[in-house]
Amino acid sequence: MSEQKRDYGLQTRLIHDAHNANDTTAVSPPIFQTSTFLLRTPEEGAELAAEVAPGAYYTRYGSPNNKQVEILLAELEESEAALALGSGMAAITTAILANVQKGDHVVAQQTHYTATLSLLAETLPRYGVEVTQVDQRDTESFAHAIRPNTRIVYTETPTNPTMDLTDLRATAEIAHAAGALAITDNTFASAYNQHPLEFGYDLVTHSATKYLNGHADVTAGAIMGSRALIDTVWEYSRVHGPVLHPFESWLLRRGLQTYGLRMAVHNANALAVAQFLEQHSQVERVYYPGLPSHPQHALAKQQMPGGFGGMLSFEVKGGYQRAYEVVRHTEVCLLAVSLGGVETLITHPASMIHAHQSDEQRETAGISPGLLRLSVGVENVEDIIADLDSALNK
Ligand SMILES: Cc1ncc(COP(=O)(O)O)c(C=O)c1O
Repeated sequence: MSEQKRDYGLQTRLIHDAHNANDTTAVSPPIFQTSTFLLRTPEEGAELAAEVAPGAYYTRYGSPNNKQVEILLAELEESEAALALGSGMAAITTAILANVQKGDHVVAQQTHYTATLSLLAETLPRYGVEVTQVDQRDTESFAHAIRPNTRIVYTETPTNPTMDLTDLRATAEIAHAAGALAITDNTFASAYNQHPLEFGYDLVTHSATKYLNGHADVTAGAIMGSRALIDTVWEYSRVHGPVLHPFESWLLRRGLQTYGLRMAVHNANALAVAQFLEQHSQVERVYYPGLPSHPQHALAKQQMPGGFGGMLSFEVKGGYQRAYEVVRHTEVCLLAVSLGGVETLITHPASMIHAHQSDEQRETAGISPGLLRLSVGVENVEDIIADLDSALNK
C-alpha cells in the first residue's frame, strides 16, 4: 500500500499491508518452507551476509514470511520496526538480555508472567545482573529502586492474574531520567487497547501466541520499537536462535488479518461477563480494569483508550474447593492455560499456573485459593454468561 494512503484504518492495513513484502501474485502469500536461499552471485552472498535481518539468506536470520508479519506487527504498535520470534518468552528474554551486561541493574515488578519471574529471579542474577522488584501499583517505588547502574525498567500491565495496572507514562519517565530503557510486555492489554510506545516506552514485547494470532494454534513472540533497538535485538536473536518458523509465521499473519474484529468482541464480551460476575451471589470479588470498582479504573481509562481487554479474574465464595468445582462444571469455558484465543478459557491460578510457588509467594502475587482467571473469547456472550452461571450455582 502506498505511503500517501497511510490513513487507512487498522483492519484495512492489517489485511493489505503485508502485500508490499509479497513478491508473488498469490493473494494468500506462499509459505517459504526453506532453511536457506540461493545466492545468485558470490557478491550477492557477501552483501546479504553483511546485512542486518536479511529476508532471504538463511531462516535463522529472517524469512520472507517473517518480513510480511513484521510489517503488521509494527503497524499494531505504530513502531518503526518489529522482530518476530518463536515465542513470547523468546521476545522477553531477547529484549532484556540484548540490553544488559554483567554489573547492570534492572527494576521490575513483583508480579509478572511466571516464566518472566524466573528470568528475573534466577537467570539474570546468574549472569551478574541485579534485579529489584517493586509493587507496580506504587509508581514511587520504581523511582526509589533506581540505582546508578539501572539499565532497564521492565513492566507488564495489567498483570496476570490480578489485573493490577502500572502507570506507563510515569514509569517511562522514571526510566529515562535514569538513562535506562523502558521495556514492557503488552500481551495482556494488547496493542488494540494500549500503546506503550506513545507513553514513551522504548520496546514493547508480545506473546503473539495470544491475541495477535488469536486461534490457540501458534507459539510466537514479537518485539516492537525503533529501528536501532530492533537491530540490536535482531543481532542477539541471530546468535541465540529463537526462530519463528515459516508456517507459524504464515499462520500468525493470517490470524492478524482479523485482529481488530476479534479484539472489539473480546473487549465487549469481557466487560459484559465482568458486570455479570460482579452481581453474582457466589462471587466475592471481580478484577477487571473496565469496572468502576477497580481501584485503578481512572488510570485504565487514560492508558487503555481502545478498551479494557479480554482478561479478568474473580474470587469465588468458598475458596479452593469451590473454585475447583466451578472449573469442573463449565462447558463453554474450556479448562486450559494460555489466553487470547477465540475460545473462552478458564484456569485456577493457585493450582494450575503458580503451583511451583510457595504459599507466601502466591500471597504476595495476590493469588488467593478461590481465584479463577478467565480469558473471555468471542463466542456469543450470553452463552459464556449462562455457562458460568450454571457452574457457579452447582
Ligand atoms: C503476559 C505473558 N507474557 C508472556 C508469556 C509467554 O508467552 P509464550 O508462551 O508465547 O512464550 C505469557 C504466556 O502465557 C503471558 O501470559
